[in-house]
Amino acid sequence: MTTFKTLDDLPHDLTGQRALVRVDLNLPMADGEATDLTRARAVAPTILELADRGAKVLLLAHFGRPKGKRHSTMSTSFIQGAIEGVLDKEIMFISEVAGPVVTQSIDILRAGDIGLLENTRFWPGEEANDTEFAKGIAAHGDFYVNDAFSAAHRAHASTEGLAHLLPAYAGRAMQKELEALSAALDNPMPPVAALVGGAKVSSKLAVLEHLVTKVQHLIIGGGMANTFLAANGVDVGKSLCEHDLTGTATAILEAADKAGCTVHLPYDVVVSKEFAANPPSLRTCNVHEVAEDEMILDIGPQAVEALGDVLKTCKTLVWNGPLGAFETPPFDAATMSLAKTAAALTSEGSLVSVAGGGDTVAALAQAGVTGEVTYISTAGGAFLEWMEGKELPGVAALQK
Ligand code: 3PG
Repeated sequence: MTTFKTLDDLPHDLTGQRALVRVDLNLPMADGEATDLTRARAVAPTILELADRGAKVLLLAHFGRPKGKRHSTMSTSFIQGAIEGVLDKEIMFISEVAGPVVTQSIDILRAGDIGLLENTRFWPGEEANDTEFAKGIAAHGDFYVNDAFSAAHRAHASTEGLAHLLPAYAGRAMQKELEALSAALDNPMPPVAALVGGAKVSSKLAVLEHLVTKVQHLIIGGGMANTFLAANGVDVGKSLCEHDLTGTATAILEAADKAGCTVHLPYDVVVSKEFAANPPSLRTCNVHEVAEDEMILDIGPQAVEALGDVLKTCKTLVWNGPLGAFETPPFDAATMSLAKTAAALTSEGSLVSVAGGGDTVAALAQAGVTGEVTYISTAGGAFLEWMEGKELPGVAALQK
């Protein structure tokens, strides 16, 4: 159930109204060119809809972490071309976020035109969520739209403060994201499986602690599974393992047991003496047979088959993190195989699958199943904080 306003709550005709729209255009760059336009594509529907309805659309965005000062390489003018390409429209770059330059630029814009304001993080008031700074921006808008879920874990002036100063609406990307995430964890169809992978338990401790109270099956993969195996007394050899966190892992296993959540750890694994593509020392073994000079780099085929069977009994899957070292073959096998199973179950209509985080998005793309997952979030930090059960300030402000 959605408790925030959307673009449907605005009058259809917005001719001449000034829309301040927070977007996340923090695009990855190489040699001055954006290397991935996913975020620009995600916010395009909101921008084009507001422009079509006659608004003067003013884009607010951060770019990098300039820490409250103008920084020559972090101007949003560097991403102007990328967003113009995606929108197939010219936009005006405005070198401030408040004041007379902004007023004059808005006067030049016609109904349906789009302006891109300078990097909000060039001013210290942005990250400090300073009310006077936010008021300066708010003076240039008739209403505020937040379409930047991936920046919603930041309580900044343009992600949180503005929502208290102007009528506030969720943009289409934000709306889609909130509806998908709420269907996956707030009101999911049980049984729910969460798959959490990645290198370290320490980076996802809060996620694991929260999930054991919410889901029926917790699948742990990646390097973090080694820490759990070690907690169960398994000798993991040279594997990546946070031995100092085995006590924490045991506490998570106990909490899961109490909450009725089954934790799935691999019982066969793919090991090697060196971490390289297709190494000569590659072999598959039971977790109890890892030699002291070997490292676990993926979960084994029997474990993958068993996890596929678990997914077949589930109605909802939330996925963050790979099962193995998926960038290096053949340690991508488990992640690819389970991604395909999840995609097939989703296509059949028996599973709602939601995935998020950079590595996970890359792994699903590598498996060729991006189009078959119910929803893929491009958010990194915001997706993890949502998995931790935290209230995201940018979302909470829209709901008030
Ligand atoms: C991101 O790239 O994940 C978002 O744009 C947030 O950026 P930040 O971590 O610099 O706040």
